[in-house]
Amino acid sequence: MSASLAEIRNLSVSYGKGASQGFALDGLDLDIRQGRRLAVIGESGSGKSTLALALAGLLPLEAQFRGEIRWPGLAHPPMVGRDIGLVFQDPGSSLNPVLTIGEQVAEGAVRHLGLDWCGAHRNALALLERVRIPDPQVAFDAYPHQFSGGQRQRIAIASAIAARPRLLIVDEPTSALDMVVQAEIVALLEELVREAGMTLIFITHDIALASGFADDIAVFQQARLVEHGVARAVLTEPVHAYTKRLLSAQIDFSTPRLINEVADV
Ligand SMILES: Nc1ncnc2c1ncn2[C@@H]1O[C@H](COP(=O)(O)OP(=O)(O)O)[C@@H](O)[C@H]1O
Ligand SMILES: [Mg+2]
Repeated sequence: MSASLAEIRNLSVSYGKGASQGFALDGLDLDIRQGRRLAVIGESGSGKSTLALALAGLLPLEAQFRGEIRWPGLAHPPMVGRDIGLVFQDPGSSLNPVLTIGEQVAEGAVRHLGLDWCGAHRNALALLERVRIPDPQVAFDAYPHQFSGGQRQRIAIASAIAARPRLLIVDEPTSALDMVVQAEIVALLEELVREAGMTLIFITHDIALASGFADDIAVFQQARLVEHGVARAVLTEPVHAYTKRLLSAQIDFSTPRLINEVADV
C-alpha cells in the first residue's frame, strides 16, 4: 500500500441552517493514496465537487465545515497551483478570457517554481507542446476563445500542472466534450500523471469513463461515500446497491480498457 497524501477524517460540509440545512458531504473518511488514480463517481449533487473544493481549501464562505483533512506527505498546507492542480468541467472556469494562453500557462512556474519570465516562457511552450496544442509559439500569444473546447481543456491542464503539483484534481473535465475528444483528454491525463508520478483524483458521473484507467474507485451517493476500493473489485464485485445500479445502467465491464481503445482510433 502506498502512503497517504491526504487523510480525510469525519469530514462534513453543510449549507443552510435549521430545517433548511443540507449536507453536501456527511461524515467522510477517505485516504488519498500517493501515486494512485482515484475515480470519484456519483450522480449530480452527491458531493463530488464539494470534496474537490474541500481538498483544495476553496469551499465557499457560507459552507459549514467539520472534521479534518491531514496532509502527511506535505511540509506545508497545500496551495492550489503549487501542490494541487485543479481542472474543472468548463475550461472557462479555469482560464481567464482576457489573459493570453502563454501568460496563464507560464504563471504557475513563475510564482511557484521561481523561474524567471524567460524560463517560464520556455516551460510554457514545452507544456503546450506536451498537451499537443498545435503551433505553441502562435498559441502562446492567443486568447482562450480562439481555441476549441477540447483545446481549451488541454490548455487548462497545462496551466494546472505548470508548477508540477503532487496532486491533480480534475472535476468532470470531459463532460462538456464529445466522445472522441473525451477519450483523447483521458488518454492525455493518464500519460501526464504517469510521467510526473502525480496523484490523480478524477471526478465523473460516468462510471464507464472511470473504468478505463482508475486504480481505485470511490462511489458517492447523497453526500456519503457508499463504496471505496480497488477499481477492479468495485467494478466486478460491487457491494453497495447503488454501485450495482450504476454499473447495470452502463457498459459491459468484461472489456475493461474500453476508453483506451477508443483513444487509439
Ligand atoms: N454554495 C452552495 N450553497 C448551497 N448548497 C450547495 C453549494 N454548493 C453545493 N451545494 C449543495 O451540495 C450538494 C453537493 O453538491 P456538489 O458537491 O456540487 O455535487 P456534485 O459535484 O456531486 O454534483 C448539492 O445538493 C448542492 O446543491
Ligand atoms: Mg460537481
